[in-house]
Amino acid sequence: MKLAIIGYGNVGRALARLLREKRKEFPFTIAGIHTLRHGTAVDAAGLPAEVTEAAEFGPRAASVEEFLDAARAQVAVELTTLNPSTGEPATGHIRAALARHMHVVTANKGPIAHAYAALRDEAAREGVGLRFESSVMDGAPVFNLWRHTMPGVKVLGFTGVLNSTSKVVIETMERGGSFDAGLAEARRMGITEADGAYDVEGWDSAAKAAALANVLMDARTTPQLVTTRGITRLTPERAMEIARSGKTVRLVSRGRRTSGGVRLRVRAEVLERNDILACTPGTSNLILFHTDLMGTFGTVSIEPGVEQTAYGVFSDLVSLR
Ligand SMILES: NC(=O)c1ccc[n+]([C@@H]2O[C@H](COP(=O)([O-])OP(=O)(O)OC[C@H]3O[C@@H](n4cnc5c(N)ncnc54)[C@H](OP(=O)(O)O)[C@@H]3O)[C@@H](O)[C@H]2O)c1
Repeated sequence: MKLAIIGYGNVGRALARLLREKRKEFPFTIAGIHTLRHGTAVDAAGLPAEVTEAAEFGPRAASVEEFLDAARAQVAVELTTLNPSTGEPATGHIRAALARHMHVVTANKGPIAHAYAALRDEAAREGVGLRFESSVMDGAPVFNLWRHTMPGVKVLGFTGVLNSTSKVVIETMERGGSFDAGLAEARRMGITEADGAYDVEGWDSAAKAAALANVLMDARTTPQLVTTRGITRLTPERAMEIARSGKTVRLVSRGRRTSGGVRLRVRAEVLERNDILACTPGTSNLILFHTDLMGTFGTVSIEPGVEQTAYGVFSDLVSLR
């Protein structure tokens, strides 16, 4: 299967490494890579490893449409920067690929948080797949869990600790470090959005909550409709005081069905250390689903990194073969 990759940053490069590692069992070919500032590379027969490794490309294609037409791939892999307020330009990139009868895999939660129902319908009309496992909790099964298992079970709500960067910042402050030192540490780990404010102000968590609600609860919502308050008012002094009292802070995303529709909230919550939402260390993420037939159960991912995000994209690609 030939891939046209749009966006080649932390996740794109990790995906290319994973594809190289697994090429014997899973022979995907990268036919093109398109970026914002680093230009474009296309070879419909498959880009050589030297090009994908060095990530040094030629002049940028004039438009994503021109790039997709030149790459002649079966799958567009959308890995551009998150824009939580509009979901663009990623949503436009996905539409351009669907209009060309291409399958789409994305790790970008923006389009799923803003336009899921429309994109799902467009993909169905074109007879192609739309997959987005890594948009929430990297490669740990969240959407694919519901796609492949749990027949007849209805999601009534969810509770998640879904943003790794905020957790790294909180833990740094609990040890007496500054807010900025925590953010710098998260950036060094490659887990921060291009604009780190999206993580700490709660926008990333709001976009994930909206994506979850759109896919699992047919909410047709957007991140703007999530009541959101991030961790920016937390100080090292307050974080240490909370830690001394045996508690901690987590940025928690909550969603629930009500008679008035799906309600979504993101908030920094003070939790007991032994609260299941507080138990996971470092970059770890956790989601609990509240359901009609299966009570509450969940998925946990311990210390995921960008390789696990790449795996989520890879698992989506494999599911489309
Ligand atoms: N990093 C993670 O751990 C993680 C986890 C889950 C999901 N995600 C999601 O995965 C996506 C990629 O994340 P990342 O960490 O790889 O981001 P990144 O390192 O900032 O890379 C973004 C890439 O997108 C390209 N780009 C931006 N705007 C573009 C446009 N209009 N047209 C073409 N290319 C464009 C950039 O081009 P240049 O290189 O030229 O600047 C860059 O190559 C994001 O949506 C993020 O939310 C990331």
